[in-house]
Amino acid sequence: MSEPTPLPASATKAAWDKLDALAAAPGGRLITPLFAADPNRAEKFSASFEDMFLDFSKTSISPEAMTGLFELARAAKVEDFIVRLFAGEPVNMTEHRSAMHMALRSLPDAGFRAVLPEGGFEDASKVAAHERAHMEKFVRAVHAGEIVAADGKPFTDVLNIGIGGSDLGPRMVSLALTFVHGAKISPHFLSNVDGHAFAQLSRELDPARTLVLVASKTFTTLETMTNGHAARDWIAGALGEDAVSHHFAALSTNMKETGKFGIPEDRVFGFRDWVGGRYSVWSAIGLSVALAAGWDAFEDFLAGGRAMDGHFRNTPLEQNLPVLMALAGIWNLDVQHAATLCILAYDARLARFPAYLQQLEMESNGKSTRLAGDQVTHQTCPVVFGEPGTDAQHSFMQLVHQGPAHVPVDFILAAEADHNRPEAHRILAANVFAQAEALLAGKSLEEVTEEMKKAGADEETIKRVAPHRVFTGQRPSTTVLYKKLDAYSLGRLIVLYEHKVAVQGAIWGINSYDQWGVELGKKLAQAIIPSLEPKADHGHHDGSTLGLMNKFLSLRGE
Ligand code: F6P
Repeated sequence: MSEPTPLPASATKAAWDKLDALAAAPGGRLITPLFAADPNRAEKFSASFEDMFLDFSKTSISPEAMTGLFELARAAKVEDFIVRLFAGEPVNMTEHRSAMHMALRSLPDAGFRAVLPEGGFEDASKVAAHERAHMEKFVRAVHAGEIVAADGKPFTDVLNIGIGGSDLGPRMVSLALTFVHGAKISPHFLSNVDGHAFAQLSRELDPARTLVLVASKTFTTLETMTNGHAARDWIAGALGEDAVSHHFAALSTNMKETGKFGIPEDRVFGFRDWVGGRYSVWSAIGLSVALAAGWDAFEDFLAGGRAMDGHFRNTPLEQNLPVLMALAGIWNLDVQHAATLCILAYDARLARFPAYLQQLEMESNGKSTRLAGDQVTHQTCPVVFGEPGTDAQHSFMQLVHQGPAHVPVDFILAAEADHNRPEAHRILAANVFAQAEALLAGKSLEEVTEEMKKAGADEETIKRVAPHRVFTGQRPSTTVLYKKLDAYSLGRLIVLYEHKVAVQGAIWGINSYDQWGVELGKKLAQAIIPSLEPKADHGHHDGSTLGLMNKFLSLRGE
């Protein structure tokens, strides 16, 4: 088994040049003429998988540009990449690891395999199924009142302590699924090392009723270990040292460290190093989701992810939702130079989805070095941000409509609501369509002038105000629409983005599965902590850092 052969940047140069030429041609940045030219554009520039519908017609991708984007994908050997990814080849070449999160949601006999650190492969589907059985037994026993707190009474709350991938996934999914499926146990999340976060939670929670999950792939992350020990002191202080073994479980790949923390082996839910942090919600890291929303909901969630894996793996590029989404993103970012991506889920249950995608997209693809060791030739990842709609319309959407830079938007909407006020859901949906239409069509000076005249404005007012009320339009968006939000459809939605990110990484020729960029800050923080003790030697730092450290200590009177 060999490391993936890095493609030289020259392999995709002709395809990129063609796309640049198309965008630079007259009208190459406009969208509305594309609709005027083809009444069937919406149909041609959209695709479905099951009830999930992706519309990317509101982009400036012309039919020629679409052909060019497929040529780019083929020049970058995306189809080969998909085969290698699913074959468990070490696509994470800097760490010589597979990226085999698909095995976590596969059936036990699917036969997905992953590279072992010592060489050879293991049956990742079987490993995942084994750990899933361990999780299921635990979750069902907690719900049945067979696994209980130190006082023999059931747990009512679960506190997941983790950060990054060990927090964002479980937090986002729990919020969505406890709404849909009800909360069997109330989930809570502690990620930030800021002591205020723990202070707040320890005020709200009763230690006697709380099950604590210390979630850390490495079990060495500073924030999680600091918070884990704070929670340990909190439980032991309130209930006695013996309560710790009843009230704690660990979700980790590092059995040695979980043992040192004092968590019994049968309370450690493991996963392997072929599961990246930001892809780990499907693994033992999802235990809080299963405890909160129930085991059956967790299984449905995995099934949704599995269905999208199958679609991605087996569908030609031309109808492949993650591929189409990836190509639309590449067009916006690299050809039209729109450097951001705004995620607008019109769904309060998906309030944490943008935060989740920030890690998924930016930790995966925020890279400058290609697999071949040279520097990337294009921008590799948009800056991702977002908020639920319609709230976002009353905060940052002003800039998206009228700012000089174009901000591509992903609108996300479920057709059916999970409440009994259909009129509210119609209003919500109307806002999605209105926002996307406004971004596309805009409003010309002539239209504004006419509108103001009709409203009785005088000439002077029209001259002064009308230019400020002009919307240029031609601003791209894509829309993801599906029947309803539930465990299955959320699983599908997440995997749509996971594989979109994978395809984009393959086109840019980077490793989407390492994250060296977060290491330096972590190391420096470790070095600075002791120098913030009163009268400690500050060590060697730049003038600004030293000055700030001194100011911090003097403001504290130390
Ligand atoms: O932010 C860097 C990172 O390594 C992420 O990739 C990961 O999700 C997070 O830290 C938490 O790491 P761990 O699960 O090992 O505590």
